[in-house]
Amino acid sequence: MKTITIVGTQWGDEGKGKLTDILAAEADLVVRYQGGNNAGHTIVFGGRKYALHLIPSGVFHPNTKNVLAPGMVIDPIALADEIKKLELAGVDTSNVVVSDRSHVVLAPHIALDEAIENARADKVGTTGKGIGPAYALKATRTGIRMVDFIDEAQFKTALIAHLSVVNPMLKAFGAQAQSAERIVRDTAEARKVIAKRVKNASVLINQALENKKRVLFEGAQGTMLCLDHGTYPYVTSSSPTAAGVPLGAGVPPQAIKTVLGITKAYTTRVGEGHLPTEIKGELADDIRTRGNEFGTTTGRPRRVGWLDAVVLKHAKRISGITHLAVMLLDVLRGVHPLTICVGYRLNGEIIDWIPASAQDLARCEPVTITMNGFDEPLEGIERFEDLPKNAQAYVNKVAELTGTKVAFVSVGPDRNQTLRLIDNLWEENNG
Ligand code: IMP
Repeated sequence: MKTITIVGTQWGDEGKGKLTDILAAEADLVVRYQGGNNAGHTIVFGGRKYALHLIPSGVFHPNTKNVLAPGMVIDPIALADEIKKLELAGVDTSNVVVSDRSHVVLAPHIALDEAIENARADKVGTTGKGIGPAYALKATRTGIRMVDFIDEAQFKTALIAHLSVVNPMLKAFGAQAQSAERIVRDTAEARKVIAKRVKNASVLINQALENKKRVLFEGAQGTMLCLDHGTYPYVTSSSPTAAGVPLGAGVPPQAIKTVLGITKAYTTRVGEGHLPTEIKGELADDIRTRGNEFGTTTGRPRRVGWLDAVVLKHAKRISGITHLAVMLLDVLRGVHPLTICVGYRLNGEIIDWIPASAQDLARCEPVTITMNGFDEPLEGIERFEDLPKNAQAYVNKVAELTGTKVAFVSVGPDRNQTLRLIDNLWEENNG
């Protein structure tokens, strides 16, 4: 088995899209295993810009299959729209496969997402894409799967049963009940676009693994947004960790080999919840502008903080991260000194793990170290050895603090502004 699993080590938006794009070019299969169109990344390809929310970026490589696996929740209208935009731009999307076991996100889930957020005293700050309600209804065995969605008659029957539970919920929140006929009608076009791509994804992925094909598992969001291991309740409703792969893709746990943790050279977060190393004021504004830290899905400005090694160690512990990719290093140019959080002080004790209680996390004071910054531009640099000494020292410190090898360093937005410290990651741990 030759696999690489990409996971976000922070609160999402770490730059996973760029690494996925680079590794997708070398993969036979790219698999999204959780989440839905709450994720998003922008890919610049052939001089054009594409916003991808559901489809893996392997779609630009005709020989790479792109799988939306059983663990995803998929808004069919959004997926059909993404497919149509790609096709209009001349991208062949026949290499996109959708799992028959994935769940669909429909208008009532989006309405519920909004209604629940409005009703809550402690807002999560969701992306409003209906992700939480779709997963919640899946867990109560009220969800609708892709296999039922693509057959109009079957879908209608499932939808009537579904709405018998969901409409009373909507009404209880003061929102409008929804009609099955309307949903069937509004999704008719999407059904046509998607139906022919729906397959048993687990069989397909396992066949690829048996045939020693290269399979890239693409995590969305980040470890700190994990439903189980993140900063609950300010999390998403799936597991963006390596542990989410076997369940979400329908592959054996032994398929997880190399786990590439993606981290920014600093930290960002969107939505609510504590950010222990948060920076405010001019420096934060400056980093936000230079790093273009505005949500791809919602456009919201991201909060900014120093790099947090406690967060990285947490991600490593849970996902068995074997390698790191340090992204957006260029954004830290001219920042003096560079600060890294190496522990939290809580109740007079220093800890290197994330407390479960949101109140405790809010009381954690970061214990920090500082390092010399760098002023030289990084843009044209092609080898790690050519980085300014202080930039090298910073990356080496991240490796040391986390006990992880650094495989990539990103020094600019372009695909070729990515330094490879390990030539062939597919051969590492993949024996
Ligand atoms: P939901 O996933 O829309 O339910 O949102 C739950 C939380 O996860 C909110 O704080 C969102 O801002 C955050 N979130 C969801 N998807 C992403 C993502 O792709 N990047 C960053 N944050 C995300």
